Amino acid sequence: MQVADKVVVVTGGANGIGKALCDAFHRAGAARVVVADVDGAAARAVAADIHGAAFKCDVAKEKDVLHVIEETERQFGPIALFCSNAGIGGGFDPLSVNAGGDSDEPFARSWAIHVMAHIYAARHLIPRYKARGGGYFLNTISAAGLLSQVGSPAYSTTKHAAVGFAENLAISHKAHNIRVSILCPQGVDTNMLRSIPKGPQSGDGDLSPEQVAQDALKGIEQETFVILPHPQVLGYMRRKTENYDRWIAGMAKIQARMREDFGK
Ligand SMILES: NC(=O)c1ccc[n+]([C@@H]2O[C@H](COP(=O)([O-])OP(=O)(O)OC[C@H]3O[C@@H](n4cnc5c(N)ncnc54)[C@H](O)[C@@H]3O)[C@@H](O)[C@H]2O)c1
Repeated sequence: MQVADKVVVVTGGANGIGKALCDAFHRAGAARVVVADVDGAAARAVAADIHGAAFKCDVAKEKDVLHVIEETERQFGPIALFCSNAGIGGGFDPLSVNAGGDSDEPFARSWAIHVMAHIYAARHLIPRYKARGGGYFLNTISAAGLLSQVGSPAYSTTKHAAVGFAENLAISHKAHNIRVSILCPQGVDTNMLRSIPKGPQSGDGDLSPEQVAQDALKGIEQETFVILPHPQVLGYMRRKTENYDRWIAGMAKIQARMREDFGK
């Protein structure tokens, strides 16, 4: 799909990868880019630079996601591309004392933002996309959704679930001309990466959000399901499926090193 002349929504668009996506879509000629973020002031600042529009929105709340969709379509016309990009880096424990944690909170919060938000977008856009013959979802997930995130069971689990939902979304609605891409980078130089413990996510180098946005744009133009800004991830996926036990053993070594580094 070409984004030129299209109405595009980006959640978590006020910072990092989302902001870079907004800039890239604007430069590619989108008719209107809507920046939806829980940080309303930062969303307005991004929108002001790209003649876009901003909505304060908590993607964990269905009514907020629905409001963004309804208001965008009322003010600017049909949404062609909805990017569920908002995310949080919660639940990190580099020592991994207990993968089950000691409370539901980090799991529930990550579940709401990384999974339910994507489901809400689909729930309210699928009928609209079907009625007008198609549409596009770009879901920012992570290489952690395909591999794992050493040091965060909440992040790993919810990003895997997000991949599962996106696969099913793509399968269920291919016949309706609805396309889905998942954006799965490793480390990207953003506030989120800076807020979590340093780890293997940066092993192949941290990319700039602008580079990742360019890769996303190319993936959307080519309608590719998995977009891998770090191409090494494909090799890691192959090694994982080739021999799961060897892969778990390798990841456990990385975990042991992390425990040692952070335990000092
Ligand atoms: N930075 C990385 O290394 C990296 C790697 C892989 C995947 N990702 C994913 O990329 C996405 C963007 O992350 P980023 O690195 O740009 O982070 P970031 O912290 O720079 O930006 C995230 C944005 O999401 C917004 N946000 C958070 N919770 C929200 C909510 N409930 N409702 C609406 N907006 C909300 C924040 O206000 C912020 O503007 C996330 O889904 C993240 O998991 C990041």
